Amino acid sequence: MSRKIIIDTDLGQDDAVAVLLALASPELDVLALTAVAGNVPLARSQLNARIIVELARKTTPVYAGCDTPLKRKLVTAEYVHGETGIDGITLPDPTHPLEDTHAVDFLIDTLRHEPPGTVTLCPLGPLTNIATAFSRAPDIIPKVAEIVLMGGAYFEVGNVTPAAEFNIYVDPEAAEIVFKSGVPLVVMPLDVTHKALTSRAWVEGMRALGTPVGQAVASWTDFFERFDTAKYGSEGAPLHDPCVIAYLLQPALFTGRHINVEIETGSELTLGMTVADWWRVTGREPNAMFMGGVDRDGFYRLLTERLGRL
Ligand code: RIB
Ligand code: CA
Repeated sequence: MSRKIIIDTDLGQDDAVAVLLALASPELDVLALTAVAGNVPLARSQLNARIIVELARKTTPVYAGCDTPLKRKLVTAEYVHGETGIDGITLPDPTHPLEDTHAVDFLIDTLRHEPPGTVTLCPLGPLTNIATAFSRAPDIIPKVAEIVLMGGAYFEVGNVTPAAEFNIYVDPEAAEIVFKSGVPLVVMPLDVTHKALTSRAWVEGMRALGTPVGQAVASWTDFFERFDTAKYGSEGAPLHDPCVIAYLLQPALFTGRHINVEIETGSELTLGMTVADWWRVTGREPNAMFMGGVDRDGFYRLLTERLGRL
């Protein structure tokens, strides 16, 4: 039986690869994509979600959610992902419709109606939609099977400030709600994703697939790689969000620790920092499986094999 998941996304290029990986994998039943503001404003992230569903030739429903963080002004990242969030190859406007229901209502209704413990949430952007659903309908919290998310950083520190990773920084109050919710959490921080760097051979392998998906993935990687190589001096770019989906398919690719992780919401200097008790020095209750390592070759083998199916 396939595992039911909902992907919550601020759809940029790496989110797009994650969504394609999920849609290519029969082990996963993608109930919906719920869009949130993050890399790009909501109007664009929901549009991108529909473009990617269509690129995969699927009919997965797309819902639009929150357009601003809980308490703060939205910070976006077009400087990384381009104006559209998926700059690279030009893809046609979608005919795949946007659902009428708000993403938060969809999350609440779905978690109320599906059997408890059967739906996994996969947030790939700021946690605004998930936190809003949890605050509005706390009865759904114990029904979530697990949350596997991309966000945070510890040894790798921050990418948007010296202390914070983008997804958590954009809506730290939402992150705090989710990290304190009691739902089993698996976290893919920059500590992992900065080890999941693309290689030139892999990008060219994608292009050589000769499919629309292969062409798109190669063009996206070419686009945002420039930013990462200039910033970090690395040879490739981190494919952050696909780590979430790869974990669902092959958890043994990743290693980490079950530890306490708290979110900084007070300090201006370290706002959005994921304070991870990696060395277990605080005595605080563990609330997250915080990953630190990835089998990079295995990860890219999985991506190549699955994306080749689309
Ligand atoms: O910091 C990396 C994360 O921020 C990724 O999810 C990327 O898509 C952006 O949302
Ligand atoms: Ca993302």
